[in-house]
Amino acid sequence: MGIKAEEISALIKKQIENYQSEIEVSDVGTVISVGDGIARVHGLDNVMAGELVEFSNGVMGMAQNLESNNVGIVILGPFSDIREGSDVKRTGRIMEVPVGEELIGRVVNPLGQPVDGLGPINTTKTRPIESPATGVMDRKSVHEPLQTGIKAIDALVPIGRGQRELIIGDRQTGKTSVAIDTILNQADQNMICIYVAIGQKESTVRSTVETLRKNGALDYTIVVTASASQPAPLLYLAPYAGVAMGEEFMFNGKHVLVVYDDLSKQAAAYRELSLLLRRPPGREAFPGDVFYLHSRLLERAAKLNDTLGAGSITALPFVETQAGDISAYIPTNVISITDGQIFLQSDLFFSGVRPAINAGLSVSRVGGSAQIKAMKKVAGTLRLDLASFRELEAFAQFGSDLDKATKAKLDRGARTVEVLKQDLNKPLKVEKQVAILYALTRGHLDDVAVADIRRFEAEFLSWLDQNRSELLETIRTTGDLPKDEDMVSAIKDFKKTFVASA
Ligand SMILES: Nc1ncnc2c1ncn2[C@@H]1O[C@H](COP(=O)(O)OP(=O)(O)O)[C@@H](O)[C@H]1O
Ligand SMILES: [Mg+2]
Repeated sequence: MGIKAEEISALIKKQIENYQSEIEVSDVGTVISVGDGIARVHGLDNVMAGELVEFSNGVMGMAQNLESNNVGIVILGPFSDIREGSDVKRTGRIMEVPVGEELIGRVVNPLGQPVDGLGPINTTKTRPIESPATGVMDRKSVHEPLQTGIKAIDALVPIGRGQRELIIGDRQTGKTSVAIDTILNQADQNMICIYVAIGQKESTVRSTVETLRKNGALDYTIVVTASASQPAPLLYLAPYAGVAMGEEFMFNGKHVLVVYDDLSKQAAAYRELSLLLRRPPGREAFPGDVFYLHSRLLERAAKLNDTLGAGSITALPFVETQAGDISAYIPTNVISITDGQIFLQSDLFFSGVRPAINAGLSVSRVGGSAQIKAMKKVAGTLRLDLASFRELEAFAQFGSDLDKATKAKLDRGARTVEVLKQDLNKPLKVEKQVAILYALTRGHLDDVAVADIRRFEAEFLSWLDQNRSELLETIRTTGDLPKDEDMVSAIKDFKKTFVASA
């Protein structure tokens, strides 16, 4: 048996490599070049992908591209005083964030540092921001409702705990408002909320936080923000930091809602970072792994099985479209990863239908199993009815003599649209949603003028509160409808007191 020259040289190479690592020269590197938030560093031979490193001025960085003779590092802070030749230390830690109850009520950046000026946060635990999603065997199918308090969502596209539901629409269509109202409605729902603001204006984040504070929602909410003025790597990291904080609660058996507002901006930040790292660009100049960017994030939403404590993370990712184009690259990617989408449409919004949910293009693939029985009974076919009403409406504009059935359908549709309208920051409890939808779908609103519907609803619900609260109580406690005759008699009694406008 002859010994091959390559084998010998490979052996020697291996020896040399081991020798170098033994004397630990590789824990400190030197900056070769720096610019645009990216540093190229030589000498960090053993650095791990995603490891935190520290520059000599105390700024942290994250190792991204491990190449044969240097490492590409994204700088997570100001980089103007990092120079060529300065030292970079390994920390031996994969990028992580502080987690735990202490964060609740606070506003933090993606590194978990407070930005609300309320002093330090004394957390004791951390979690890596990247971690593998829960496996198949550890999960259970989604079956508990997450009540958003928004009629159009809870009735048409119900969301379950552990589900991922995309909220998609142009700018200024009420996306953020849906998130805020959903968070407000979690007050007594045993839910911890994490609102991740990505690439928003500082002033917008501030007013969101104020709304949450005014309504008492900060008592169970963490806000993670990487505003538009922050470097791209922080925008890229923000959602992972948010879900890591959520996982801590989920694995302790709690229910968590994480809102990512929005992932388009995160994808753009990741594109910037990738181009600066010289990764090859693909479609729309996004790097090849932009799908993985979102799939690995959203897969971490889960409903755990009972042995693991039955906790859950529900994810509400947001995507902003341009001119309503939901077939662009990032929207289609995220649509394919999530369990449904809620499409908010500008023209509906401007015509006064708010929340501007397009019933035809919105869907929830978990659907009925995440609704209480009573809601299922009153809202079963509502979404399809509404979609067919929209089609009929467009068609009916051409002709005047409609047959009776079509006319009835149009009348009901117009009232359905009115009932599903809802004001800002006024989430409605599920029993009240059921009550008004019962009146609608059983035809008790057909003789109320369309212009009166919203006033009818408001007055009816407060009348129920005062006079027949046991009906609401029944829906709340049993999850089922009270007896039909009780509901009908209540509606009839109220109608006697209702004054139609002239
Ligand atoms: N249901 C609603 N009723 C009335 N106004 C609304 C409603 N939803 C949103 N708005 C208003 O519309 C504007 C845009 O909403 P926002 O949630 O910021 O949209 P986006 O996040 O899609 O840009 C805000 O000024 C908000 O107050
Ligand atoms: Mg917004």
